[in-house]
Amino acid sequence: MSETETDLPQGIALTALDENFRDDPYPVLGSIRDKTAVLHDAELGRYVYTRHDDVKEILHDGALWSDPRKANPGTFTREFLGRGDEEPSMLLMDEPGHRRLRMLVSRPFTPAAVERWRERARAIVERVLDDIHDEEFDLIEQFAGPVPTVVIAEMLGIDPAMHADFKDWSDVSVQIGFNPFPTPEQTAAGEGAQAKLDAFFKSEIAARRAHLGDDLISDMIRAEAEGEKLTEPEIVQQCNLLLIAGNVTTTDLIGNGVKALLDHPEQLAKLRSNPSLIRNAVEEMLRYDSPVTNSGRIANRSLDIGGCPVHQGDSLSTSLAAANRDPSVYVDADRFDIEREDTHHQSFGGGRHLCLGAHLARLEAQEAILGLLARYPVLEHGKQGWQYAQVPSFRGMTKFWVRGVSA
Ligand code: HEM
Repeated sequence: MSETETDLPQGIALTALDENFRDDPYPVLGSIRDKTAVLHDAELGRYVYTRHDDVKEILHDGALWSDPRKANPGTFTREFLGRGDEEPSMLLMDEPGHRRLRMLVSRPFTPAAVERWRERARAIVERVLDDIHDEEFDLIEQFAGPVPTVVIAEMLGIDPAMHADFKDWSDVSVQIGFNPFPTPEQTAAGEGAQAKLDAFFKSEIAARRAHLGDDLISDMIRAEAEGEKLTEPEIVQQCNLLLIAGNVTTTDLIGNGVKALLDHPEQLAKLRSNPSLIRNAVEEMLRYDSPVTNSGRIANRSLDIGGCPVHQGDSLSTSLAAANRDPSVYVDADRFDIEREDTHHQSFGGGRHLCLGAHLARLEAQEAILGLLARYPVLEHGKQGWQYAQVPSFRGMTKFWVRGVSA
């Protein structure tokens, strides 16, 4: 531990619940990264890693644990992610259970399988844009929010008549899904919405068992790996995980990406004049302003990463946002440049738990942003500004007003 460490912010000050951090986390993260390799955040019971190579080493160490029930009492993972004794979802599961589930659900998420959704994603983007009528509109509510929800609803084979309910329930349930500090109101509303979603998924599973179709729920029913099948509670849990892990994050990628473009008009102009830059641009958006700011693991043994000894059961928090802007790895790391070559990032985590939906999220963001720019030859900040969400470990906006003038 370095001598300066006690002066560094920790606890809530290092989460989106803090106003300064919420508005712009990068200066705070940068000063931590400069001053110390590992920050012991005693307030939240975790070790915070901000340097690119340390973050990568932790995420790729397949022996480290993710199951919060293995973390020591009083640690961040145990206290905030390990609610109850129920079996955690794939994201927080260890081997061999994790590998089994991942094999059973991964087929529709390979790059080739996802690519088949491009045309449908493009059509969904057009439909969502057709519903926007005002010149100044909230990009999150009217565009970045609906696109991923409709895409996943279609992938799950949900009747379009149910899409509005489905979106309402999933929006509310995510408020507790990843928020370690929900208010009592959020908890109550989230649990209510979750119960409705669970009941809905059960009835969808029953319907698919009767008539299998070309959709993700049918795929999960059919899936067989090593002679095993998914149980009904497992299918319900996977559906929930896809919503919770996939919807808000993709909304945030589209929102943060468009904001980066509007904040840097010369980059926006570059993309307009050369739309084939979109793939690299989306990678740069992921690096520059990652929708997930933190991931983590639990020490399965004594370790010494970055010169700071930690012990079995300690909670290791990897700052993806800080690692993605490490100046020892990236040229001019704080500059947003859609043509940069070093766009590699850790925004999808890494190793065994590398984001299952990474290709889908990329495809959706590429189609959404290209569709939006094509629809609005003029797109700029609106008068009503933007507001960042207060959900720790995530970075995205609840409101983002833009002004779009169509041709
Ligand atoms: C921009 C959008 C997204 C971002 C930034 C993101 C980020 C992440 C991160 C950081 C992890 C943890 C990785 C680790 O700890 O090593 C993760 C895991 C996961 N993500 Fe995503 N995600 C996004 C979109 C999606 C989508 C669209 C889906 C699915 C529809 C999805 C499904 C999952 C699943 C199932 C896991 C758990 C994988 C495992 O534990 O093996 N994500 N994601």
